[in-house]
Amino acid sequence: MILRCQLAFFVSLFAANLAWAGHSFENTAIVRTVELGGASVHVTTAFAVKALEPKSSVYTIALSKNEHQKTSWLEVRQKGQQAVLPLQPVLLDAANDAYIYKVEFSKPLAMNESVNLILDTVQTHATFPWPEQAGQTDDQALKYETDLYVLSPYKTAVQRTKVRALSPRILSYTTPEGIEFTTENPVTKSGATVTYGPYHNIPESSSAEFVTKHQKHVTVHYNHDFPLAEITTLKRAAEISHWGANLNIQDEIVLHNAGPTLKGHFSRLQFQSSTFYNRASPTVLNWFTLHLPAGIKNVYYYDQIGNVSTSRLRAAPSVPKSLSGNSNQYSIMEVRPRYPLLGGWNYTFTLGWDAPLSDSTSFDSKTGKYIVGVPVMTVMPDAVVDDAEVKIILPEGATDIEFFPPFPAKNNTISTHISYLDTVGRPALTFHYEHLTDKHNGIIYVTYKVPFSAHLRKPLAVATGLIGLFVLSMGWRRVDVRLDTKQKL
Ligand SMILES: *[C@@H]1O[C@H](CO)[C@@H](O)[C@H](O)[C@H]1NC(C)=O
Ligand SMILES: *[C@@H]1O[C@H](CO)[C@@H](O)[C@H](O)[C@H]1NC(C)=O
Ligand SMILES: *[C@@H]1O[C@H](CO)[C@@H](O)[C@H](O)[C@H]1NC(C)=O
Ligand SMILES: *[C@@H]1O[C@H](CO)[C@@H](O)[C@H](O)[C@H]1NC(C)=O
Repeated sequence: MILRCQLAFFVSLFAANLAWAGHSFENTAIVRTVELGGASVHVTTAFAVKALEPKSSVYTIALSKNEHQKTSWLEVRQKGQQAVLPLQPVLLDAANDAYIYKVEFSKPLAMNESVNLILDTVQTHATFPWPEQAGQTDDQALKYETDLYVLSPYKTAVQRTKVRALSPRILSYTTPEGIEFTTENPVTKSGATVTYGPYHNIPESSSAEFVTKHQKHVTVHYNHDFPLAEITTLKRAAEISHWGANLNIQDEIVLHNAGPTLKGHFSRLQFQSSTFYNRASPTVLNWFTLHLPAGIKNVYYYDQIGNVSTSRLRAAPSVPKSLSGNSNQYSIMEVRPRYPLLGGWNYTFTLGWDAPLSDSTSFDSKTGKYIVGVPVMTVMPDAVVDDAEVKIILPEGATDIEFFPPFPAKNNTISTHISYLDTVGRPALTFHYEHLTDKHNGIIYVTYKVPFSAHLRKPLAVATGLIGLFVLSMGWRRVDVRLDTKQKL
């Protein structure tokens, strides 16, 4: 039931074709907060918006080219509300220097009415190590660059940007010069936060004219005490077996330490003594955690050399779909690579598990279709997945296939996957994604029918195989007999 509601929701989301006409507003305040991280950076922008005409319902958000390029995920809601507001990208106007999104409020605003909008985004590859090289026991510092002004097609009474690091060890930050919108200090630092602004009475800023005349870049250089893990590629195969009542998921992962590259040679002795004293440098990635689904079993982890035994799994118990809908339970796997990953190093490994099919699949007797939910990715907190391929292998003979990804893929294809004991092969759906973050932890729903004859196909194939073996063995016996007789002669 819950599944079906979600499907309906997705459909309505994609079918949404609203009348997008802009209205006129004024920003009474804009506050942007940048939470500096490693591979991903969370940026939250709060807009206090006042309507300048009656029945105003469509507000325009602008992202600079720079920001747009780095943004992997974005969502808008009204402050204090759970519901995500529909967001429509508008093609970049060549005359403007900004990417435009239209947002529709849940109900139109009256003249002079105010509302608070929260734009939540995750940026990836927005930081880079500086210095670019570091020794094995050195600290790790990163740089983050951003545009000084939040762009908007409306006038803004006051705006500020807060850049917050995890620790107060901020090594340096840009002091912008020649700011027209303030008479005070253009930037202040307090503890782990650098604040740009407040800047007052900023005109409409999403035009190329404003950008060339006023926009500035600022850089914050900060210490970051956690390794910079990146998943360069994630190849997921999810295989559904009604026969075995099993969902097998296997991930082939290429992990990359995106921290400063190692200067000089790696010394295992030095590494061991620093881990012994619990002072491993953040430039060395020697363990990480993954969030896996609840209820998994037969977990395996191997790399190019063989099985790796140094991992720990805290498995959350199985939650059948019929009871939970969308549960937030997950198992936690603490993984140690075969060798510590120094800056610039890669590690390729394969991780797989089985789960009861009933945890992810339900049957809708009204439509006669199965609904299966496969998670897009394995979440590794604060890591970025550059390229992901998710392949969902349906049972043999599945028909009437429809799919509902949580967000559109770069591309998707349907192919046929042939495996052991298959007669006609299995339909397989493949989705390609780029720059996934932990916010992309969604579920791809696939619906399909399995005709009764297809359910029988596998037992039949097995039976045919057995009969074949039987016939063959009879043949062998005959041959044996003949050989025997020949030898006897
Ligand atoms: C809106 O506010 C302006 C200025 O504060 C005021 O002059 C105007 O009468 C207000 N309009 C309405 C409909 O409240
Ligand atoms: C790896 O482990 C799996 C099960 O845990 C086992 O079946 C397989 O034989 C092992 N492979 C090697 C090379 O040890
Ligand atoms: C790690 O992989 C990247 C490409 O994914 C490659 O450019 C780099 O050279 C690799 N690093 C090492 C140390 O092999
Ligand atoms: C789909 O996109 C990926 C990269 O995102 C690319 O490597 C692949 O060739 C594309 N496939 C098709 C069929 O376009």
